[in-house]
Amino acid sequence: MVKVLIATDKPFAAIAVKGIREVVEGAGFELALLEKYTAKQQLLDAVKDVDAIIIRSDIIDAEVLDAAKQLKIVVRAGAGYDNVDLEAATAHGVVVMNTPGQNSNAVAELVFGLLVYGVRNFFNGTSGTELKDRKLGILAYGNVGRNVARIAKGFGMDIYAYDAYTPAQVIENDGVKAVVSTEELFSTCQIVSLHIPATAETKNSINHALLSSMPKGAIVVNTARKEVVDEPSLEKIFEERPDFKYLSDIQPGIAAELAARYPDRYFSTPKKIGAQTAEANINAGIAAARQIVDFIQNGNQQFRVNK
Ligand SMILES: NC(=O)c1ccc[n+]([C@@H]2O[C@H](COP(=O)([O-])OP(=O)(O)OC[C@H]3O[C@@H](n4cnc5c(N)ncnc54)[C@H](O)[C@@H]3O)[C@@H](O)[C@H]2O)c1
Repeated sequence: MVKVLIATDKPFAAIAVKGIREVVEGAGFELALLEKYTAKQQLLDAVKDVDAIIIRSDIIDAEVLDAAKQLKIVVRAGAGYDNVDLEAATAHGVVVMNTPGQNSNAVAELVFGLLVYGVRNFFNGTSGTELKDRKLGILAYGNVGRNVARIAKGFGMDIYAYDAYTPAQVIENDGVKAVVSTEELFSTCQIVSLHIPATAETKNSINHALLSSMPKGAIVVNTARKEVVDEPSLEKIFEERPDFKYLSDIQPGIAAELAARYPDRYFSTPKKIGAQTAEANINAGIAAARQIVDFIQNGNQQFRVNK
């Protein structure tokens, strides 16, 4: 019988596990559960006889793949999949998928929670500003970026976006102004929200030149990945620009220093919470289960992310 393992250091909500179980058992497969494991060995033991694994931020590296002799597919319930060694998976003949779009509304709503908190001076009682009519730059018009644009319209913002791979027409069709480069986005928009994945191309790409080109009263919101921001540049811009604010869902390596030196301009959620909603949890978990069933029964590889 096909065996599917849910391996989650940070478990799904019980209702999500129930939904996954219904999909997996409904297909005639067996479901196993490994939650809150404290040692890698537990994961290595649990994967030995499974055909499929559903993970969240759990690390799937060559050692795990070596131990999983029957493994055919790993699905990351979520968007970012930098926790899976894609090359090793390909070398082991294992398909890797994510579940794009399932948590994007959750992340997009958090962007506006952070932004309102930021422009109202961290709710310190002083007079803040509004988001209406402000220029918002969306860096990467993927699933999260599109949801940010949709919500920004409700706030009455002036919306710009740049995406290296999405045609400008797709952006313009949503009533969003497409700019031609990351440089143009930063130099045009007082507020920039980051939605690029962490890739070789994007790591440390948000650098001093971009940050210093932003108009006065600059705010950068990062709900993407900490690696995309060049931290020495971030540190420098905080020193140089008293008008600069950084609002983040991912603590930078220099979080303690920024929090101590700039408590009224730096804020980060203590733990990444962008996708932490009941809805996102359930949607991503069930989507992962459906994708596994569809792959094993029909060979559907639509959401494959490794070559
Ligand atoms: N805070 C959280 O909990 C949380 C949750 C979900 C996603 N994320 C992060 O947000 C990122 C975006 O998620 P998504 O669901 O929108 O992903 P997505 O894959 O739907 O969209 C990513 C977009 O980035 C574009 N892109 C890739 N490289 C680029 C580059 N160099 N310059 C400009 N655009 C580029 C792609 O064309 C694509 O449109 C994820 O990769 C993940 O790192 C964080």
